[in-house]
Amino acid sequence: MIHLSTGEPLRGESSGKLAGCPYLYHMKLSPAQMLNGSLCLPGDKSISHRAALIAALADGPSEITNFSTARDCTSTLACLRELGVAVEIHGGKVRFPGGQRLAEPRKPLDCGNSGSTMRMLAGVLAGYDLNAELIGDESLSSRPMRRITEPLELMGARIEATDGKPPLRIRGCGSPRAINYKLPVASAQVKSAILFAGLNAEGRTTVTETSPTRDHTERLFNGFGVPVVIKDDLSIAVDGPARFTGGAITIPGDISSAAFFVGAAMLLAGSELVIEGVGLNPTRATFLSVLSSWGADISQTDLQMERNEPVGTIHVNGGLTSTVSPDSRTLSGPMIPSLIDELPLLAVVGTQIEGGIEIRDAGELRFKESDRLAATARNLRAMGAKVEETPDGLRIDGPTKLRGALIDAYGDHRIAMAFSIAALIADGETEIRGSESVAVSFPEFFDLLHSLIVR
Ligand code: S3P
Repeated sequence: MIHLSTGEPLRGESSGKLAGCPYLYHMKLSPAQMLNGSLCLPGDKSISHRAALIAALADGPSEITNFSTARDCTSTLACLRELGVAVEIHGGKVRFPGGQRLAEPRKPLDCGNSGSTMRMLAGVLAGYDLNAELIGDESLSSRPMRRITEPLELMGARIEATDGKPPLRIRGCGSPRAINYKLPVASAQVKSAILFAGLNAEGRTTVTETSPTRDHTERLFNGFGVPVVIKDDLSIAVDGPARFTGGAITIPGDISSAAFFVGAAMLLAGSELVIEGVGLNPTRATFLSVLSSWGADISQTDLQMERNEPVGTIHVNGGLTSTVSPDSRTLSGPMIPSLIDELPLLAVVGTQIEGGIEIRDAGELRFKESDRLAATARNLRAMGAKVEETPDGLRIDGPTKLRGALIDAYGDHRIAMAFSIAALIADGETEIRGSESVAVSFPEFFDLLHSLIVR
């Protein structure tokens, strides 16, 4: 049985290396029997950011249906408005008239908690003859930005940061240089920033990845009239100057939000869960194969395409059905970027896998909304799991019966949600401090979780 308190305000501050986030709300959760139900999810956060940027820059009108309800995507729309873009939100649709010119913003562009907003918008602005300042909250202000400022400066923008961190003061360049750039980190945000800047460059801008990252930018550029050339050597090229056409898109349900319910359903024997209209882009869906290899009964049906993005239905029958091969218990190498947002959840699930699991090559997790390796390790230990934290990963023993505990979300939505799932399989009550952070990507999380619980 699950108890969802409406959340009581707490006084106090997080402490230690992960500090920085005052607790606003805490959520109390008890163990659950199973999850049962069928649902559709709000639009994918990554695709929504990109669709909004594309619609804002397009020549013709655009209409976005099932736009993400994430606070991060609201930050993107607010920044676009500040840049003079007319954004109309009506009956669950977001409309853009098209054919607009970006105007110099009169105040700083507030990206809130959203790294995607700051990095991709910086890419857009690098290609316009404008001055702008990009600011963010405390967490975003501590995240690395050299990864975008370096290539964007090579393209001709001038960007001031403080020790490589926000705020970013950008002097864009109306005629940026086309560059050929090898990404030093596997990051879809950085790749996308360069491709957005390349739209206004004369000639071919090429970005080469070391490992494939989510490819929504490539798919949507192609879907909205700007051809992108993708090669086997992991290079992606756009020929500028180029303009988007605009048009209609229905954003697929957010697969990273779905992941929490899929994880809970597989851990609770007897669960039957169906998630319809969800994005199934292979650069995001790797966690489904990982969970299947760990014995989950997961299938996909009704596959369709929406502006080049695969969409379908996920079915999960609860319980672990097979023994797990030692190979599939290590997550490492090129698969990591396509699992990056699901790793805290996979760490929680890993506590229930015979022989345990290991995550390697995931040092990037230390630069997310919190240091997700440290936050995951600390919270798992609080619940009685045996965890070793390495510089770029975690070693987690399993199976371990978890016990309810006091969890700190460290202001990080994915930590709050991953440990809400841990709470459902733990003995006793769990309290998630900082549970309000779920609104960054999935404001409906607790209500939907509640509606799926079989009492
Ligand atoms: C995102 C890319 C990833 C991911 C983030 C969203 C995107 O970040 O963690 O939640 O929409 O491009 P990086 O590009 O920094 O890996």
